[in-house]
Amino acid sequence: MIPLAIPNIAGNEAKYLQECVETNFVSSVGPFVDRFEEMVAHASGSRHAVATTSGTTGLHAALTAVGVGSGDLVVLPSMTFIASANAISHCGALPWLFDIEVEGWTLDPVQVEAALREKTERRAEGVYHVETERRIAAIMPVHTLGSPANMLALTAIARKFDLPVVVDAAAALGSTCNGKKPGALGGDLSVFSFNGNKTVTAGGGGAVTGNDEALCARVRHLTTTAKVGADYTHDVVGFNYRMSNLEAAVGCAQMECLDTFVSAKRRIARRYDEALSEIYGVAPFPRAPWAESACWFSGVTLGPPATPDIEAVIASLVECGVGARPFWKPVHLQAPYASAPVEATPVTTSIWDRVLTLPCSTNLSEVDQKQVIAALRDILGASA
Ligand SMILES: Cc1ncc(COP(=O)(O)O)c(C=O)c1O
Repeated sequence: MIPLAIPNIAGNEAKYLQECVETNFVSSVGPFVDRFEEMVAHASGSRHAVATTSGTTGLHAALTAVGVGSGDLVVLPSMTFIASANAISHCGALPWLFDIEVEGWTLDPVQVEAALREKTERRAEGVYHVETERRIAAIMPVHTLGSPANMLALTAIARKFDLPVVVDAAAALGSTCNGKKPGALGGDLSVFSFNGNKTVTAGGGGAVTGNDEALCARVRHLTTTAKVGADYTHDVVGFNYRMSNLEAAVGCAQMECLDTFVSAKRRIARRYDEALSEIYGVAPFPRAPWAESACWFSGVTLGPPATPDIEAVIASLVECGVGARPFWKPVHLQAPYASAPVEATPVTTSIWDRVLTLPCSTNLSEVDQKQVIAALRDILGASA
């Protein structure tokens, strides 16, 4: 089976893990955690980084740090992995769900601005959603598939409505927008994931980055049980969200390969785009004109004109030894979010069940990729 997206253990991972064992630094402090945070801060274009146990816990800590709390609403695109919405729920808040833009499948700023203008009112305590009587506490753009959202427009809206911006940048390391790295695009905090299917992995883990020293210190405080001093005094309800030195050791070795891995991801995406997009009824993933995507995942959308049976295509690919998968089911169609307020989602609705993700591990060989392409052409009945 050619897998969808697996880790590429190609460098110093074993050496650094051995160092952890030999020095007895296997837990939540250690030199690799410090080094990992420095590497992530630099690669994200941010001044500070706080390593966490996952992207989800990083999002939870970041949202809490900017003041998202019980009963609040957070603006979120419906087309995202459920973890983005779950982090909002973990704060006791609800996502307010929006559509994505056609250009890059990221949060639609035009729709967000219109809804904030028409459906909210400003009160002494903040901006309130009139229908639900909930406070709007933040905007959370998602850098979908590693492609930066339209941050210029979204941060301008956030300023207009005095809202903090927490970016779900889970898979965006390596992307740029007008030459700027993803942590330098105006969000208050950006959150990255180092889960096993990401371009660089720490086995699991996340990182919150930002430029505001006090805000990042607050994130660190929250992720380390909000302790004050060394006598078991804690000033708020905190979390135990610290990354271990073992994970950070793997993370450091992987971060050393970031540029090589992102180049590989982009090469794989380009090969699929070139080989598959001339097939009738097959479209490549969109490329936002304002961004250079890190191309975390590769794939295509099938149809229109024909309505594809995506499950049948995936089953046939799996039979040929190709680990293809569908894509995220939108948040507004998920049972836990049935009561979340949702705006019209024509773009999300028109694409989500036509997306086919294809093998794109950074160590995918050209021979294996040719096999994937041949299998898909065959299944779709395209001439070679
Ligand atoms: C868009 C998005 N948000 C959040 C997450 C959650 O990250 P993690 O799995 O590290 O908790 C992921 C990845 O899994 C993701 O793709």
